[in-house]
Amino acid sequence: MASYSRVSTVLLIVVLVGSLLMVVTAGDFYEDFDTPWGDDRAQILNNGELLSLSLDQFSGSGTQSRNKYLFAKIDMHLKLVSGNSAGTVTAFYLSSQGSKHDEIDFEFLGNVTGEPYILHTNVFTKGGGGREQQFYLWFDPTEDFHEYSIHWSPQSIIFSVDGTPIREFKNAESIGVPYPSNQPMRIYTTLWNSDDWATQGGRVKTDWTQAPFNASFTNYTLNACVWSSGSSSCSSISSSSTSSNGAWLSEELDTTSQGRLKWVQENWMIYDYCKDPERFIHGEPAECSLS
Ligand SMILES: *[C@@H]1O[C@H](CO)[C@@H](O)[C@H](O)[C@H]1NC(C)=O
Ligand SMILES: *[C@@H]1O[C@H](CO)[C@@H](O)[C@H](O)[C@H]1NC(C)=O
Ligand SMILES: *[C@@H]1O[C@H](CO)[C@@H](O)[C@H](O)[C@H]1NC(C)=O
Repeated sequence: MASYSRVSTVLLIVVLVGSLLMVVTAGDFYEDFDTPWGDDRAQILNNGELLSLSLDQFSGSGTQSRNKYLFAKIDMHLKLVSGNSAGTVTAFYLSSQGSKHDEIDFEFLGNVTGEPYILHTNVFTKGGGGREQQFYLWFDPTEDFHEYSIHWSPQSIIFSVDGTPIREFKNAESIGVPYPSNQPMRIYTTLWNSDDWATQGGRVKTDWTQAPFNASFTNYTLNACVWSSGSSSCSSISSSSTSSNGAWLSEELDTTSQGRLKWVQENWMIYDYCKDPERFIHGEPAECSLS
């Protein structure tokens, strides 16, 4: 029953609209991103294949996608600030604009040398956030590039690390939980100072003698529905020579992936808003009771 209704939602969306362009692009930062923040602290290198962000006492830096998207699957490779990264936050996220904005966040909270980063995730819907889940990673994210993916479809938002799902936020509009389904979002990458909260709850400050801090982004794949002139959702038109059948739009976690998600949640999750009763005097949010 549940899966039938999900399938029909997807079909409806695909059938109803025709004016949106579904694109598949492979990794040219020049083509897809602007660097509006941090002057030359945000640098696109190697013919658009590599993005380098840096942070010093005066400013952080960041990029935003030229296009807005309504549903997307973005696989991005990141290498985080190494050494003493305490106080720094590297982020890769989607956000719409306005006071009732939607947002889907990956934030990497730095730490002193040798201590683990925290991967902080959150989902904002219609201006409301407070849905944090935090994880340690099972590798050193500063040594190599690793793939971090946001898969935002009409059915769910799936966060993955190297292809392993770490979090799923299901569309539960049917039980009254707001879901990001009608505001187009841009993709953002940023590196900034957050030493008031990021590391060990804000107790450890950024050591500016180590600046500039650097994080790199590369090799991304973007499967997305481009928002243009106010029209919503996807057609199955492919804009590039790479053809797309749009399978990502209806893709859900299979049994194997659900098993891996469970493994991460049992072994690597260090904070879950659903299990923080002090925050919810009137009971946990409705989405927390979904399996
Ligand atoms: C930093 O290291 C401390 C000590 O191991 C740990 O408690 C904390 O969760 C780590 N991460 C951050 C971002 O504070
Ligand atoms: C960041 O990159 C700059 C320029 O390449 C370099 O001089 C600096 O040492 C790097 N910072 C760290 C902490 O590695
Ligand atoms: C780029 O990412 C894809 C998966 O998204 C991976 O298969 C490939 O090895 C990566 N290439 C490089 C050069 O890292």
